Amino acid sequence: MATFRVVEEGTSSPMAKLLTVQGGKPLEGSVHVRGAKNLVPKAMVAALLGSEPSQLRNVPEIKDVEIVTNLLQIHGVKVDADPVTGDLTLDPRDTYSAAHSEIDAYAGDSRIPILLCGPLMHQNGEAFIPDLGGCRIGDRPINYHLEVLRNFGAVVDKTPTGIHISAPRGLKGAKLTLPFPSVGATEQVLLTAVLAEGITELDNAAVEPEIHDLIAILQQMGAIITVYTDRVIRIEGVERLSGYKHRAIADRNESASWASAALVTQGDIYVKGAAQRDLTAFLNTYRKIGGEFSVDDEGIRFWHAGHALKPLVLETDVHPGFMTDWQQPLVVALTQAHGVSIVHETVYENRFGFTEALERMGASIQLHRECLGSSPCRFGQRNFLHSAVISGPVELTGAEINVPDLRGGFSHLIAALAAKGTSTVTGIEVINRGYEHFMDKLIGLGADVEMSER
Ligand code: EPZ
Repeated sequence: MATFRVVEEGTSSPMAKLLTVQGGKPLEGSVHVRGAKNLVPKAMVAALLGSEPSQLRNVPEIKDVEIVTNLLQIHGVKVDADPVTGDLTLDPRDTYSAAHSEIDAYAGDSRIPILLCGPLMHQNGEAFIPDLGGCRIGDRPINYHLEVLRNFGAVVDKTPTGIHISAPRGLKGAKLTLPFPSVGATEQVLLTAVLAEGITELDNAAVEPEIHDLIAILQQMGAIITVYTDRVIRIEGVERLSGYKHRAIADRNESASWASAALVTQGDIYVKGAAQRDLTAFLNTYRKIGGEFSVDDEGIRFWHAGHALKPLVLETDVHPGFMTDWQQPLVVALTQAHGVSIVHETVYENRFGFTEALERMGASIQLHRECLGSSPCRFGQRNFLHSAVISGPVELTGAEINVPDLRGGFSHLIAALAAKGTSTVTGIEVINRGYEHFMDKLIGLGADVEMSER
């Protein structure tokens, strides 16, 4: 039985790696983007709700898929994968509870274990959440998740090694309102309510494309889910769910990252698999800065048109606004714009840590605690540096960089590729969590990069 095993990019050994980048060459050519990192692991978890096997296609070979594969296997799910075709079969018919120590060992640096709660309570009557990982871009509490689970009737016990959740009296539908349209908490409600007794109504829900793709999967399995226009989702619980056959939506975050790479390196990149409907807010912003793009049935071509980039005022938001995961790579492009840009990050309170390295490379970026945008956000008047003022254009020069988080890491890569001279990048493994075969793609685009062991 084949499974996903992500060999860290560039070298065969698990030793710490060092990426050496010679900057100054435009990236040119094409890359193929497969299924979304922010959907595929949740689709794999949804298979646990079924009474029959499920098939997921367009699955990328990334670390988060490997982590979820291991987590499902220790709960008895049979996982059969073909990393080349991206096809995955998940058979949940013999699931059982796993030892807390095993869950802890396999949870790795991911937040996915919390989304196993609903399906495992439906399958085994209990679930365990170890301490969660994920990118250090904010406190990232799980209070919304625990609150909605309690409302379904779950009992939440905090233990020294994690949180034990059980459903002694079963799970019943509830009327819920999220304080903020959290993607994870909305997925928690969907994955729990579909087999809960009665009706669940969720107000202020997240409506990202990945949420709609998860709803499509659950509906295929037999769920009854209605999405209303004003962020209300209504779920009528059913007794049994079957399996699904589904092709995962393309990774719009990876697509936007390569688009920013084309702008920053004054290059031209065709992103096979990129979907315009999931990138509308990004494409508007890209055009405003002066980036060019053209759409066809297979993907989107992004290129630098050779004229000066324009500054702008940008505010991140939940869908359909400008997504927070697009912010970091685009900030690198704004260091090349002629004038002063403002970026107000409203989704995460601490997502500008990556600018420290950009400043050492010559960028001019000031961080502020005020909400420097059109609307005050949750972080205003509190001690969070969540707005950035970026002055350009500046010449970036090579530097020593350590990758802080997934999107911050990609933004450092493209800054190093645009910079004069040589950069050395450590902590590069983080990028494997969400960018499939990024080294092969960089080399395919003509980047002068070399991976070595430290
Ligand atoms: C998902 O994270 C994505 N990750 C993130 O992408 C993405 O940035 C985020 O949604 C927003 O779109 C995955 O899908 C694996 P949230 P998630 O719950 O679900 C606060 C990337 O780079 N909050 O929507 O964890 C939270 O702290 C990653 O690909 C609570 O306060 O995000 C944040 O400020 C990074 N309590 C805000 O809500 C809770 O219980 C949004 O978080 C839950 C969330």
